[in-house]
Amino acid sequence: MPNPDKKLEEIFYGATFDDFLLRPQHGTVSTRKEINLTMPLTKGISINMPIIGANMDTVTREKMMNTLSLEGCFGFIDRNCSIEDEAARVKYVKTQHSFVIENPIVLYKKATIKEAKNIINKKGVSGILLEEEPGTKILAGILSHRDLLRNDEKNEYLVEEFMTPYKNLVTAKSRISIQEAERIMFQNRIEKLPLIDKNRRIKGLITMKDLRLAKQKPYSNKDKKGRLLAGAAIGASGDYLDRSEALLRAGVDCILMDVAHADSDLLKKAFKNFRSKFKNVPVVCGNVATKRGAKFLMELGADAIKVGVGPGRGCRTRLEVGAGIPQMQAIREAYLATNGKIPIIADGGIKNDKDIFMAIAAGASTVMLGSMLSGTDESPGFITDDPITKQRVKIYRGMTSPEAVADNSNSDNLDEALSTPQEGQSVKVPYVGSIISVINRISGHLRSAVSYAGEKTLYDAHKKIAQNPQDFLIRLSAASQKESFDR
Ligand code: XMP
Repeated sequence: MPNPDKKLEEIFYGATFDDFLLRPQHGTVSTRKEINLTMPLTKGISINMPIIGANMDTVTREKMMNTLSLEGCFGFIDRNCSIEDEAARVKYVKTQHSFVIENPIVLYKKATIKEAKNIINKKGVSGILLEEEPGTKILAGILSHRDLLRNDEKNEYLVEEFMTPYKNLVTAKSRISIQEAERIMFQNRIEKLPLIDKNRRIKGLITMKDLRLAKQKPYSNKDKKGRLLAGAAIGASGDYLDRSEALLRAGVDCILMDVAHADSDLLKKAFKNFRSKFKNVPVVCGNVATKRGAKFLMELGADAIKVGVGPGRGCRTRLEVGAGIPQMQAIREAYLATNGKIPIIADGGIKNDKDIFMAIAAGASTVMLGSMLSGTDESPGFITDDPITKQRVKIYRGMTSPEAVADNSNSDNLDEALSTPQEGQSVKVPYVGSIISVINRISGHLRSAVSYAGEKTLYDAHKKIAQNPQDFLIRLSAASQKESFDR
């Protein structure tokens, strides 16, 4: 265990990612594929890949969050929008790809074929559950897309004449495992399995399509109900409590209370207000960059802390204000201060895949990425052609850049918002295609690093190196940096 009173080790003073190499250890795995990359996100939540999408409006919105969760990573949807929009984005993620549809569409069995067709087309579903009496949710049967095709001319007929009635249906109880559902559906050759209680009340629906998707991505991060995990950000002033309430109603799994300088009275007050209203919600707090700041957030009760002041690609804090701590030093300070008791998210400044391993070796559990994820299909914004470089590019912008500030202001407060000093900038990043190929590349490099560290899991490599970094990390000279990275 690290010791909070322990002095920062010499190798970390003034250091960032390119200052280190990992000393290769004796390898213990026969194939790198078997190396596990699961790491803690918070005290109570683990994720299968230690990558977190930054809460920025050019990085993580519903499409990015959805894909990150499906691929075993995580993210926080940004708050540079109305409460309703942010909550809707969380809801979108929470209603995608669950193997159980908790609130399936239900229609009265005496509705007409025309009404059923309208609903099926509008909602894009392939079948519909029918109830005995309006509002009772007592299962009467299923009407499938195929039943409708056969009866194209019979719009005014009642659906009950064409449905498969309850007595011919295979059903199951609501607390069913994915394996059991698959076995029942396979044995009975059915595409849909309604879930009911002992009074025949509809409790959910499982479709073969959703089961297949869940099985294709066994490493996805899901909640107990099989829904993808979603995170979202709030601030520490203004609407943060109302925003939290809406996000929780939408099903958010983890909230990020995010301010530029979290070692502050402002954050303390906001955190206490939040906790008195929402008792058991996992909350990540940030950003801090010092021992003192990290200890402060842990003692306040944060479930994880986010570390980084000024290393980000879209940041101008260090240039304009002069404040900050080199990122490897900041991660190490946070690890020593928190005694390894709560997970650390290393946020900002990661440019190469090896930086991710270095952050985790110094004491972080996960890393937050902004610019590295921003040139993908899943990030918000358009692909354009850069007239100078002729490259295909997307825009990545700091959240306090004039562009982001202007987008989050209305005509009444725009002048005031733009006249406050900005510490963010907007840059063009190369378009790189789908985030999935970026994640695959990173996971390959991380597995390779774990193998060089002589371990079988990223967690074991993290624990081993973070406890005695001087035995495993080599601080580079200017000449060895050149030898390592100058190509
Ligand atoms: P990378 O290097 O991954 O960094 O692009 C992402 C992180 O940068 C931070 N961020 C900002 N910092 N002014 C800042 O000082 C800004 O306008 C700004 N916008 C984002 C943030 O911590 C993010 O996760």
